Amino acid sequence: MISETKQKEYLYQELTNSCNAITVGEPDLIANLANICALIKESFNFFWVGFYMVKKDELILGPFQGPVACTRIQRGKGVCGTAWQTKKSILVPDVHQFEGHIACSSESQSEMVFPILKNGEVVMVLDIDSDKLNDFDQKDMDGFQAVCNVIESIL
Ligand code: SME
Repeated sequence: MISETKQKEYLYQELTNSCNAITVGEPDLIANLANICALIKESFNFFWVGFYMVKKDELILGPFQGPVACTRIQRGKGVCGTAWQTKKSILVPDVHQFEGHIACSSESQSEMVFPILKNGEVVMVLDIDSDKLNDFDQKDMDGFQAVCNVIESIL
């Protein structure tokens, strides 16, 4: 039987390949991000997946899949604003334990956020939420880092 770890690796490899395939030759960023959200949602059926775009001094909601979400997040606030400020990806096993977490939905229980950089500056963050506690591990972090690398390559 294929181990859960191997299965995850395979799924992330497929996801990264698909992200490359759907964005190649398409210069429109919003169209690409919208399709990447759809791919992630179809691959893993997470509760919420989407992008927040850096616009002036705040993050503004971009393409996403899932329930209605907060539209604006300030730098340094919540998980997304912290990932922006620190330029570091964040794994939150239990959102209730993250001081300042912004609850767009009370159903969200665990979360991962990845900053996406251009010329050394954060231009957007990728936010992935689960309605289950402790739903993400290092394999998920590595898998989505690979997806973020694809996005950075098309910026
Ligand atoms: N929980 C995030 C806010 C965005 S929503 O989860 C979609 C945060 O704390 O930054």
